[in-house]
Amino acid sequence: NGLSTQNYDLTFWSQSVASTTLNVIAVLFFSSKLTEHNIVFTSRQHILKFYSLDSNMTITQSGLRIGQRLKYELARKPSFNVTEDFLKLVPKEQPLKDRHFKTCAVVGNSGIVLKSNCGQEIDSMDFVIRCNLPPIEGYQKDVGSKANLTTMNPSVIPQNFKNWNKTKKEYDRFLRRLSLIGDQILYVPAFTSPHGEKDVRILTQFVLKHELPMKTAFPPTGLNNLMKKIWRDAGFKILRPSTGAHMYTLAATVCDQIHMYGFYPFKKDPQGTALHYHYYDNRKMIGNRTHNMPEEFSAFQQLHRRGAVVLHTEPCQ
Ligand code: CDP
Repeated sequence: NGLSTQNYDLTFWSQSVASTTLNVIAVLFFSSKLTEHNIVFTSRQHILKFYSLDSNMTITQSGLRIGQRLKYELARKPSFNVTEDFLKLVPKEQPLKDRHFKTCAVVGNSGIVLKSNCGQEIDSMDFVIRCNLPPIEGYQKDVGSKANLTTMNPSVIPQNFKNWNKTKKEYDRFLRRLSLIGDQILYVPAFTSPHGEKDVRILTQFVLKHELPMKTAFPPTGLNNLMKKIWRDAGFKILRPSTGAHMYTLAATVCDQIHMYGFYPFKKDPQGTALHYHYYDNRKMIGNRTHNMPEEFSAFQQLHRRGAVVLHTEPCQ
């Protein structure tokens, strides 16, 4: 199938990863529809053909002016108005410029991480990525507390903090969650759909009003399609890549070793115990029409088998 150690650019991970895999029994129940050939193309080399942090991680201030209209990916009209306040949050340069990490954790939000005891291991990684501003307090034992890059879809506000302007308690809860980012990165896909505009404005006001020291990043319009292209060119039948797939792609360009936790889009764990969709809420595992997470999971399993990632689906020691 054309796969060789020469064209597989991640094989050098295998050795260092091998010792860690002793602690990890990845679940390999799901038969793969993909050929090993696909894996070559989801490797760093393939990703870098389409994606670079310098051009795709965030828009930057240069060339952007107040009043400029930015297109949304999923709507022809309306467009996003670059206000004076929003411009203050746009970084001067991409926040990971010239950075490279030996070990990274990408933490998804599946209920599989509960009782995993993986918190310490996650915190021992050089760079930790989390998805959608998840709660950490109260879950440290399982998910750790370090967060170097946290994503936040604008929909996180209506979904998890809808009463932020109704009660002080809810306002403080949202503020606390944002404060925990500290001076690390908050990554906000603001230009996917105009539905998120109101929430991007709310976030902007929170950050400015409370002088939160975080670094913000706003991936440019078109990133969903770009991600989809990267994965589809590799033969994966994914729909719009999920946040986790998106974060794997980003991590592959800056990390030598990627450890993935909280990726498990199934109703039951390998022992047959029911799982919640998220580790922090009671949402049932339901089919997701926006993403094809089982297909993504199957891709991560293949990457695991090749030593390109360590997919943790069992408790840590
Ligand atoms: O933004 P999105 O709906 O994609 O993500 P989320 O529900 O906040 O979860 C973060 C990521 O964890 C997802 O994008 C998936 O990649 C992964 N996940 C999973 O593998 N299994 C689940 N049950 C839930 C999330």
